[in-house]
Amino acid sequence: MHDDYFSLTRVRLRQYRSIAAADVELSGLVFLVGPNGAGKSNFLDALRLVSESLRTSLADALDARGGLAEVRRKSTGHPSRFGVELEFRGPGFEGAYGFQVAGARGGGFRVVREECGIRFGGTGKSAGKEPGTAAGFRVDDGQLTSATERGLPAADPRRLLLADAAKLKAFRPVYEGLAGIGVLNLDPQAMRRPAAPDAGRSLQRDGANIAGVLHRMGRSAAGREDKIRVESYLRQMVPGVRGAARRTQGGRETVEFTQDVPGAKNPWRFTAQSVSDGTLRALGVLVGLFSAPGDRYSTVAIEEPETALHPTASGPLLAALRDASLRRQVIATSHSADLLESEDIDPAELRAVRCTDGQTVIGALDDPGMYTLRAQLALPGQLLRTDQLLPRPVSAELEAESR
Ligand SMILES: Nc1ncnc2c1ncn2[C@@H]1O[C@H](COP(=O)(O)OP(=O)(O)OP(=O)(O)O)[C@@H](O)[C@H]1O
Ligand SMILES: [Mg+2]
Repeated sequence: MHDDYFSLTRVRLRQYRSIAAADVELSGLVFLVGPNGAGKSNFLDALRLVSESLRTSLADALDARGGLAEVRRKSTGHPSRFGVELEFRGPGFEGAYGFQVAGARGGGFRVVREECGIRFGGTGKSAGKEPGTAAGFRVDDGQLTSATERGLPAADPRRLLLADAAKLKAFRPVYEGLAGIGVLNLDPQAMRRPAAPDAGRSLQRDGANIAGVLHRMGRSAAGREDKIRVESYLRQMVPGVRGAARRTQGGRETVEFTQDVPGAKNPWRFTAQSVSDGTLRALGVLVGLFSAPGDRYSTVAIEEPETALHPTASGPLLAALRDASLRRQVIATSHSADLLESEDIDPAELRAVRCTDGQTVIGALDDPGMYTLRAQLALPGQLLRTDQLLPRPVSAELEAESR
């Protein structure tokens, strides 16, 4: 695990959508695999809820999902609250952050508990705090019940205090790491539409502002290096394509691709409206992997990065996912046996997701799967094809918590 960038090391969820209880350790590169409807996107949605709640507000993030009733697990037990607990580390700090949200009278919601704890170590430079010190706060039912720092804003049962505590130096890196989590579900149609000019600070979930992000990459030395990486993988994934850049069109912006055509003196140019779904998705995945959201790298999760790509693109796609994971945490959901048919995947990077009786189990591979892969008797892609990537049975503690 790298600690030169922000990453989530453990995610615990309670009563979130189909997930009654999950306790998942994460590494720098993680693949979530499992059948349709197993709960992979639900897991990523919990991470997205955290980042959206911090960037906008918890009320907006819940509204965007149809309200608390949609997010809280529907089950015969009628759980009244859901909870998210995250452990993380970053340059010079590590810690935990979590909250529980319950229903309120009149169909609303309230934050019943929110807790943040950070320990500074190493150089501690990122937060300007001395190594060996700690910072934290706890809110119970809208009341600040403990705090290490002075000057925290007042708690409010309808808001996450961390969103407001970010103005204090000690909480800034945690806020930025968590708010900077991106969960992408790229949509070629959205990427094709000429877009209103966008500052391109981070790629939108569907990729609609990709022209703005590409343009922003071209404006700094580090961004230009990232763009070179994007174009180099793009060339390996999509035959003929040479590069991509922003093009403005009557007050809107779109992506223009250059393509090598045998016999032609100059490369041909095509705007996003004219290129294939696979080309657009490949570009979206690569920009998502290599661009820095909000000028700061944080975790990026990508839904099914292999979608619309030819199997021969799997090799360079896997190389790009791994390359990107040297600079930021990368989580991918995948149904692609081609992508996973590689000796380059550590079995410890796989998380299997299953749903039984409307309840999702997420975890590291079970013993038979782990043994088969470690003994090199099969590749993960082969086990995926034969449906043998299964999570290990849940612990008695987790089982008890899921009730
Ligand atoms: N609030 C909820 N309570 C219980 N179950 C829920 C809730 N919200 C969603 N679900 C269940 O989760 C399922 C969707 O799971 P999810 O989208 O995570 O699947 P997935 O593993 O991403 O599948 P795919 O590979 O098809 O994308 C729904 O079909 C529904 O059964
Ligand atoms: Mg899904």
